[in-house]
Amino acid sequence: MTETGNPVIGVFDSGLGGLTVVRELRRQIPSSSIIYLGDTARVPYGTKSESTIRRFAVEDTEFLLRRGVDLLVIACHTVSSVASDYLKALHPELKILSVLEPSVEAAVSVTKDRKIGIIGTTATVRSGKHRSEILKHGDFDVVEKPCPLFVPLVEEGLIDGTIPELVAKMYLEGLKGRIDTLVLACTHYPLLKPIIRRVMGENVALVDPSEEVAKKVAQLLPTPGDKKGQLQVYLTDIPPGYLGLIERFLGEPPDSIVKVSVFE
Ligand code: DGL
Repeated sequence: MTETGNPVIGVFDSGLGGLTVVRELRRQIPSSSIIYLGDTARVPYGTKSESTIRRFAVEDTEFLLRRGVDLLVIACHTVSSVASDYLKALHPELKILSVLEPSVEAAVSVTKDRKIGIIGTTATVRSGKHRSEILKHGDFDVVEKPCPLFVPLVEEGLIDGTIPELVAKMYLEGLKGRIDTLVLACTHYPLLKPIIRRVMGENVALVDPSEEVAKKVAQLLPTPGDKKGQLQVYLTDIPPGYLGLIERFLGEPPDSIVKVSVFE
C-alpha cells in the first residue's frame, strides 16, 4: 500500500513492451501507483520453452512481491498464455490479472460471426491458451497465427512504411475473410495497429488487450484520487537505446529507472 492507503500495482513483462499496458493503466487510472519490472536481460520470452518461461515468470513475480505489491498484472502475453495458471496456483494469496482473460472476454463479445483471430509470439500461439479460453464461452472459429517478426520491427522503430506493411501482409493476408475480430496478443502489436488495420480492413475489429486489462484493474481499485500516482521502473538490464524504447512504449518518462537482478 502507498502512504495514502492506495494499492500498489505490480506489472511485469519480458522487457519494455509491457509499458504499453502501463501507459493504458496510467491513462485510465492516473492515480495508480505502479512498480514495473521489465526483464530486459532475458527478453525475448516468446521464443523460449514453456519450462523456462514458467521459471522466469516465478522469479519476476517473487521480485515484485518482495517490493510489496498488492495486485499483480501480467503484461506479457507469452507469460499470460504459458504460466499464468501456474503463478495463480503458486500464489493463491495474491490477486493476479493477466492480459489474456480480458482480451478473450472482449473478443467473444465483439465478434458478430463468431470468427476470432489471435496473433502473438510463437510460444503464445503454441500454447493454444487463447483458443481453449475462447471455447469456454461457446462455439467459435479460432484462427491463430504467430507473427514473430513484429517484435523486432517495433523495437527497431519500424512501425510504419513499406517493410512492416510487407511483413504484416505476409502474416495476415491468410486471415482475411476468415475472421471478423483480431486479438493483438503481444505487448508490441498495439504499436502496429495502423498497419494491421490497413492490411485487415475496416470490417475486422481489433482487440487491444492493454485497454481491456486496464478496464479490469480500474474495476478492482477503490475510487481513484486525482493525484498522479508514482511509476517506478525496474529493469534487469539497461540496453542501448532503452530511453527511446521507453518513450515509444510508455509515451512519458517514468519517475525512476533502476537496474536490478530479479534475485535481489
Ligand atoms: N512481451 C512479449 C509478449 O507479449 C513479447 C516479447 C517477447 O517475446 O518476450 O508476448
